[in-house]
Amino acid sequence: MDNVLDFFCEKRPWSKYKDLILDYYLEPYLQKVKNLRKPILIIDCFAGPGKFDDDQLGSPLIIAEKLHKLYKSGYQVTALFIEANKELYERLERNTRDLIFPIETRYGNFSEFVNEISNLARDHSVFVYLDPIRPSHLLFDQMSSVYEQLQAGQSVEVLINFMSWGFLRGVWGSASHMMSLGKLKPENPQVLRFNQIAGGTYWQKIAFDDSLSQTERTDRLADGYASQLHSWFRYVLTYPIREKYETSYPKYHLVFGSRSHHAVDLMNRAMVKARREFINAGFIEGFLFPNQPEKEVIKPEEIKKIVIETCREIGKTDWTRLRINATIAHPSLYTDSELNRAIKQAIKDGKLGSNCPGTKIEENALVWPLP
Ligand SMILES: C[S@@+](CC[C@H](N)C(=O)[O-])C[C@H]1O[C@@H](n2cnc3c(N)ncnc32)[C@H](O)[C@@H]1O
Repeated sequence: MDNVLDFFCEKRPWSKYKDLILDYYLEPYLQKVKNLRKPILIIDCFAGPGKFDDDQLGSPLIIAEKLHKLYKSGYQVTALFIEANKELYERLERNTRDLIFPIETRYGNFSEFVNEISNLARDHSVFVYLDPIRPSHLLFDQMSSVYEQLQAGQSVEVLINFMSWGFLRGVWGSASHMMSLGKLKPENPQVLRFNQIAGGTYWQKIAFDDSLSQTERTDRLADGYASQLHSWFRYVLTYPIREKYETSYPKYHLVFGSRSHHAVDLMNRAMVKARREFINAGFIEGFLFPNQPEKEVIKPEEIKKIVIETCREIGKTDWTRLRINATIAHPSLYTDSELNRAIKQAIKDGKLGSNCPGTKIEENALVWPLP
């Protein structure tokens, strides 16, 4: 996108699914963190103007709507919106001026405000949204001092738009400058810059592996990014955003990090919901006969297979851990209730051993694989 203002002329159809995930997640997230009895802060580091020219809501107003509800019930909430473009910042101020709960707006590069954010994370439950417009706008380590608050026991979660496809295009476009005799020059400034964006060197193998399809390369890149994020967050989930189902590569990946397994269930629910809406819009709604690809038809047998396989991989464990591991291995496909149902069924069918009968959900029950 040459001109950032063009981005906000109208919301692109695929952006809708990114926003749905944010929207669907925030409601249950806020219901959970309000019980931590700490003020809640949501930060949108790449806020934009709040509203698109076609009147669709941007992320700041989606966030504001959710916080406002909690504010009305007496909870202490704040939003912090940061925008680097002067004109968009002025629009953001206008679009948020009449909201009646505490909103702070900042004009400038979000990196100037990282210290302020990490100080706030000491006594707030914090959710950070990072939605850059170019891969180079977000370096992997830039928020590290905020994430480090997790070690002090604080509640910090992050949702990142990792621009996987844009990153690969950037790498391929610069390949001739970064290579010598068919090999990347490790100290080349552009190589170092890509390392900084990705948070490591793992991208170097993936980007030039001709045995991988475009989808595989973007997905593996996102998996690499997720692994790096694990150095701070116990749980990381990824979700590919596609323009169309049949497009050969995702436009970008949403990457979510949290220390809480409850958050995994909730974020996965949001992702499943958005994914099913995407499938519905492409193959079901308005069609006389639903024509979604076979693998998109939800089959309880398939879900049961996933929980049994996951249990074989991890060995004896408890019910919750089995569900969370299955979710992380297959994000955005099945909800926690569907996975719970599959665990119950696998116990009843004698496919999983357990110290519970599998008639109801028992999160602490032990489960183990049977031969
Ligand atoms: C993809 S748009 C964000 C869209 C927004 N999340 C929404 O859904 O409405 C990225 C925004 O970040 C702004 N931006 C780019 N670099 C920035 C930086 N370093 N700090 C803060 N804002 C930045 C751009 O001007 C642009 O408005």
